[in-house]
Amino acid sequence: MGISQDDRIKQLKAFDDTKLGVKGLVDAAAGGSVAIPKIFIRPADELAQDLELARTSLRVPVIDLNGVDDNGSSLREEAVEQVKQASEKWGFFRVINHGIPMKVLQEMLNGVREFNEKDVEMKKDYYSRDPEKLVKFNSNYDLYLSRSANWRDTLVIDMLNTYDVDPQYLPSVCRNATLDYLNHLKKLVDTLFELLSEALGLETNHLKLLECEKGRSLACNYYPACPMPEQTLGISKHTDASFITVLLQDEVGGLQVLHRNQWVDVEPIPGALIVNIGDLLQILSNDKFKSVIHRALGNASRTRTSVACFVDGVSTPAKVYGPIEELITKESSQMYTDFTVRDYIIKFFSRGLDEKSGLNHVRI
Ligand code: OGA
Ligand code: NI
Repeated sequence: MGISQDDRIKQLKAFDDTKLGVKGLVDAAAGGSVAIPKIFIRPADELAQDLELARTSLRVPVIDLNGVDDNGSSLREEAVEQVKQASEKWGFFRVINHGIPMKVLQEMLNGVREFNEKDVEMKKDYYSRDPEKLVKFNSNYDLYLSRSANWRDTLVIDMLNTYDVDPQYLPSVCRNATLDYLNHLKKLVDTLFELLSEALGLETNHLKLLECEKGRSLACNYYPACPMPEQTLGISKHTDASFITVLLQDEVGGLQVLHRNQWVDVEPIPGALIVNIGDLLQILSNDKFKSVIHRALGNASRTRTSVACFVDGVSTPAKVYGPIEELITKESSQMYTDFTVRDYIIKFFSRGLDEKSGLNHVRI
């Protein structure tokens, strides 16, 4: 049975006002089984559509970054070729031997878990939807825009304009882990942009000269165990409004990538990181690289954590980006107009996560 729009908005508001997110619902059930509130239940047409998709045993490529720092080495050349293939065909790849120690990854994930599980009052203090607030906690940034809410809470760390985070604003339980992770990530992201530049047939520092690596934002996701994972999602299908996204996930799994119209499970590999091409790099690459739809399922028995780092380039002062000249040729004419990251992001956040791709706004 559906609910009226008025009732739905009331229920969304009541949930939002608790400031406790989905974890609060689980805690309130105190070990008893939680019935999923209606606001989280996916519309029937969406559930039916899912059943039409085939399953596949294809796997998201794994790329070994061992030796890539050695410019001109055969290991690097191989990695560039693999990055090219994966970015063209999948929009997604996993990297191993990427140089970030396991301990740094583990502590980042532990920090996110502790933030969500330790101190209810602190979480409430962070709860906000204020765009001006750079470090904030909430459940479903698109709560009032989406057709159904996701079974997920998120701590957001926005460094789009500041390029760094002021440590004092970070929750103390995950402060050091976050700073440490962000520091290590910098070098990896630089390396990735070098490999991506070469994979596009450009000079090694091409994307770096465009300052693609600059603005970053972290979404630290917490997906409580979900009593009815077949009725709701951890995160609805979407593409990312980034140049690239680096995703750290724990051992639970649930992420799926849409590949040739089939959902592919991205199974966790201990110590690996997931990299995906976002909308902005699809535009700059003039459609050579693909920003691919993905989502995450809930898990019936286990709580999952993940940390997405969106790398978004320069927002202020406004910088104009567009398809890279070298990639506009007779065979592949210009596919997009120029844009500013700020406009793109504003458009992205003014719609529900699973609405049509933001690429339509700039497609020629
Ligand atoms: C995201 C995202 C997937 C995950 O935050 O954009 O796609 O597995 N997350 O948490
Ligand atoms: Ni995403």
